[in-house]
Amino acid sequence: MKFFIHTFGCQMNENDSEHIAGLLAASGYQQANTIEESDVVIVNTCAVRQKSEDKLYSLLGRLGTLKKTKNLTIGVAGCVAQLQRSNLFDKNPFIDFILGPDNYWQISRIISSCNTDKFIATHWHNEWKEIPHIQTLRENFTSAYVTIMEGCNNFCSFCIVPFTRGREKYRPMNHILNEIKSLAQQGYKEIQLLGQNVNSYKAPKTGKDFVSLLKEVDRIDSIQWIRFITSHPKNFTKEISAAMKDSEKVCRQLHLPVQSGSTSVLQRMKRGYSRVEYLQIIEILRDLMPDICLSTDIIVGFPGETDKDFQETISLLQTVRFTNLFSFRYSPRPYTAASRMKDSIPLETKKKRLIELQSIQKELQLKMNQSLIGQTMKVLCTGQSKKDPKIFSGRNEGYQVINFRSEKDVIGKFVKVRILSCGPYSLQGVVIQ
Ligand code: SAH
Ligand code: SF4
Ligand code: F3S
Repeated sequence: MKFFIHTFGCQMNENDSEHIAGLLAASGYQQANTIEESDVVIVNTCAVRQKSEDKLYSLLGRLGTLKKTKNLTIGVAGCVAQLQRSNLFDKNPFIDFILGPDNYWQISRIISSCNTDKFIATHWHNEWKEIPHIQTLRENFTSAYVTIMEGCNNFCSFCIVPFTRGREKYRPMNHILNEIKSLAQQGYKEIQLLGQNVNSYKAPKTGKDFVSLLKEVDRIDSIQWIRFITSHPKNFTKEISAAMKDSEKVCRQLHLPVQSGSTSVLQRMKRGYSRVEYLQIIEILRDLMPDICLSTDIIVGFPGETDKDFQETISLLQTVRFTNLFSFRYSPRPYTAASRMKDSIPLETKKKRLIELQSIQKELQLKMNQSLIGQTMKVLCTGQSKKDPKIFSGRNEGYQVINFRSEKDVIGKFVKVRILSCGPYSLQGVVIQ
């Protein structure tokens, strides 16, 4: 039997799909290269915006048609599964099983019982449920995701995640460290600690916090780069900045979603910090690590966002000078507090603001990237061009994308690259060592 997993959404979902693939492989299933050649298709879904949810529905259209011509088991997992539950069966009777994010450990048993019954599991557990990490079937052999917590207690007024992933649950520290040690033995060079809100990590029995965890991970030999995502400014303490600075392995890079540059919008978003407080964190980080690369998330068109609020977001981008930006039009989501506010910003205004924001950021990035031309930097190579086998790709410590020429195959290795040219979204160069 062959399976195929189609993953939408965040790194957490990607790591979950790697766990699901591992569990299925351990039960004797084989991974297929395409949907067409598989017997079981699992769609791991994202509900964060309506557009993310709609991606599932268009894929389901294709899967429904395919199922008319072949024997196929179809499962929907992840955040839309948790949100829509049996509604998905009602609208798409060809679906065989629905599995919320907290129920993946049952996957093999569910698939084998699907021949006779439809199956749905969407309950949340109160405690961490460990899936044996040895079984994880990873996509990348150089950089590995390691989940440290799940769920979110913050209830930002726009966000559906607390309703799809449930309350915060922390993974025991010994499980995290054992997984990273085993990744180190397998030759992984970089790990990315994952969670919806990593800074609020608290080890279940000992109560040790995120800083203690970073210090422990830092001690593991042969892992050279450590990153973590996602941080919340409300929980981002001076101690975390200091722990980053004190570690040689924690990359000088941070994704710190701000969402808006306007304090009144931030208040209505229930983010728990002001514009000034966000900028203070950035100042502390830059004082300690002047070369740190920062990235952020921004939502435009949140209910009641005025032109003045939007200008404050633009001025925040110009002040901080992020190396990367993920920006979205506000999308009302079920159950959230903001969905009870009037979605007052017309679609045209949201679109205009997003275009303006992205074009200002594009110019900023181009200028920042141009200043890197001529510099030499350490790059972890993770890919090779399909068109030209001498062109490779990777990321620098700041998590910027670098495409470079090398005579030798350097996949999985750290190399030194001299930057020769750039665009706003990537740097190009040549290996010098
Ligand atoms: N802390 C989470 C955030 C997940 S959502 C994590 O990274 O695990 C990722 C980003 O999507 C948010 O930072 C926000 O910018 C955006 N987002 C969330 N809800 C949204 C909504 N209702 N409309 C538009 N964008 C949204
Ligand atoms: Fe959503 Fe806020 Fe939780 Fe992030 S921290 S998942 S934005 S509620
Ligand atoms: Fe999406 Fe769920 Fe992640 S809604 S962003 S897949 S936590």
